[in-house]
Amino acid sequence: MCGIFGYIGNKENAAEIVLEGLKRLEYRGYDSWGVAEVTEKNHLISVKKRVGKIGEANIDDLPASSFAFGHTRWATHGGVTEVNAHPHLDCSGKITLIHNGIFENYEEIKKELIRKGHKILSETDSEVAVHLIEELNKKHLFNEAVRLAFNKMEGLNALVVINSEENSFVAVRSGSPLCIGFGKDANYLASDPIALLIHTKEVYFLEEGEMAVIEKRKVQIFDSKTKKIVNFKTQKLNWTFEQGEKGKFPHFMLKEIYEQPDIILEIASNGFIQAEKAAQIIKDGYGTYLVGCGTASYACLAGSYLFSKIAKKHVNFAVGSEFGYSLDFLTKDSVVLALSQSGETMDILESVKKAKEKKAKILSLVNVLGSSLYRMSDFKMIIGAGPERSVASTKAFTGMVSHLILIAYSLIDESEKGRQILIKAAKNSKQILVSKEVEMIKELAKKIKSKKHLYVIGRGLSYPTSLETALKIKEISYIHAEGLAAGELKHGPLALIEKGTPCICFLPNDETYGANLAGAMEMKARGGFIIGVSFKPHEIFDYYIPVGDAGEATIIPNIVVSQLLAYYLAIELKRDPDKPRNLAKSVTVK
Ligand code: F6R
Repeated sequence: MCGIFGYIGNKENAAEIVLEGLKRLEYRGYDSWGVAEVTEKNHLISVKKRVGKIGEANIDDLPASSFAFGHTRWATHGGVTEVNAHPHLDCSGKITLIHNGIFENYEEIKKELIRKGHKILSETDSEVAVHLIEELNKKHLFNEAVRLAFNKMEGLNALVVINSEENSFVAVRSGSPLCIGFGKDANYLASDPIALLIHTKEVYFLEEGEMAVIEKRKVQIFDSKTKKIVNFKTQKLNWTFEQGEKGKFPHFMLKEIYEQPDIILEIASNGFIQAEKAAQIIKDGYGTYLVGCGTASYACLAGSYLFSKIAKKHVNFAVGSEFGYSLDFLTKDSVVLALSQSGETMDILESVKKAKEKKAKILSLVNVLGSSLYRMSDFKMIIGAGPERSVASTKAFTGMVSHLILIAYSLIDESEKGRQILIKAAKNSKQILVSKEVEMIKELAKKIKSKKHLYVIGRGLSYPTSLETALKIKEISYIHAEGLAAGELKHGPLALIEKGTPCICFLPNDETYGANLAGAMEMKARGGFIIGVSFKPHEIFDYYIPVGDAGEATIIPNIVVSQLLAYYLAIELKRDPDKPRNLAKSVTVK
């Protein structure tokens, strides 16, 4: 959601550095942006804010400075306007603040501050925080005023505050992520480590309730409750700068789709050690619960089929936002397997917190090293997909499924079998990406782009495949798509099929083939335009996309087809696949 970037150092173009940093966070989704900088000579704060995308915006009109921060806002409290955009200023113009999260009790504090004479210009909860700090700063030193204000704020928040008289950022967080980057004669701050890669790989992720005072050559961390100094250790990011760039591809999404065969091969070669450890934890526990949101939730659902089919193991599954209503049966012996690309999704973090209260063991499969979920887990597995910058998740999904396949096979001590089918899945995915299949998918996108609705069916492992296909299509092409368990057709959705309705049917070489074909026939009989994704053609298909068999891992090349179809539908319809409307990459609020 909202992005934060800050720079304090020797360079005179701090605002430009910050603007570049914000651009690297664009994928998180935002509707307005702003930058504030301090000129050292006269201690003046200059602010520039705009509605819309950063695009070609420049910041040349701001004076030279070596101390600046900026924010991309995804509106929650108050409309999308320049006044509501961050950074916000206090009444004196000497304190400026950016904020991520939701300041839940802002209304009562706002009334109190207005009574005391503060002029609050925006409709946001965030601006109230800067006036609260200003008020507290009348009696307390600045850092203490920030600390006290933060402790008065209810909800999950991250604040970064500058006082123009002092050469430091004061940053504090609970919930919303903040990462400090350590450079040479410079320090950085970002809501997401991807934005730091161009400057440094040495980072520290602020823990819950920690407060940092960040100067050019010094960083001090305190506990925001006790004021005690925290001895912290930095860590090295294991991503390269190039991994986070588009390279020769027109969009991050396409680049990330094409990276998948190599990522799967890498997991096949090196993933089994952590898979075997995870399998042991699951074996030692009593009851395993998978939890994820959106695309990750479909990986969880796939996991429940994989564990059942391969390891004959029952696992429960809930989406993050529902997990809290179904955890009464968790005990200290339960194992919660939490899946998340970002490791920052609020519903997942909340689920894990609740599970921890019940003393359950937390196993996580996460892509961002050092993220909140990573740090909260008892045992952490890294997906190893590299930075995912397209809002629509692609390689993280196939990465999660690959690890789950390895874990399922490790549960029955057959990890080599898992490795073999992953190698096949990587080969079959590559086949789709480098040969005529891509042209077939582009052609299909042209054919169906004007349709208002489309349906996707599958059974067994192809059911989560159908749900994920529909999600990918709707989120980036804005065509209404519904994923269904094929057996459910007769229970209602069949009423919607009419002449020409596109129906995507997944028919892999497994036990679901016959029954799923029957579903395709039911749709065909009502005039549906049948798109068969299968290892062999069939006369009822109006359009056929071949996908080679890779056992249980066929879900991977099948999803590659879906991702490409969603991508080319978006291109045909002139939507930006990397930045779908109304969506954000990391959903850090509830
Ligand atoms: C869809 C998508 C989202 C995420 C979901 C969870 O393409 O990207 O549905 O999968 O917001 O995000 P993570 O995996 O970061 O927890």
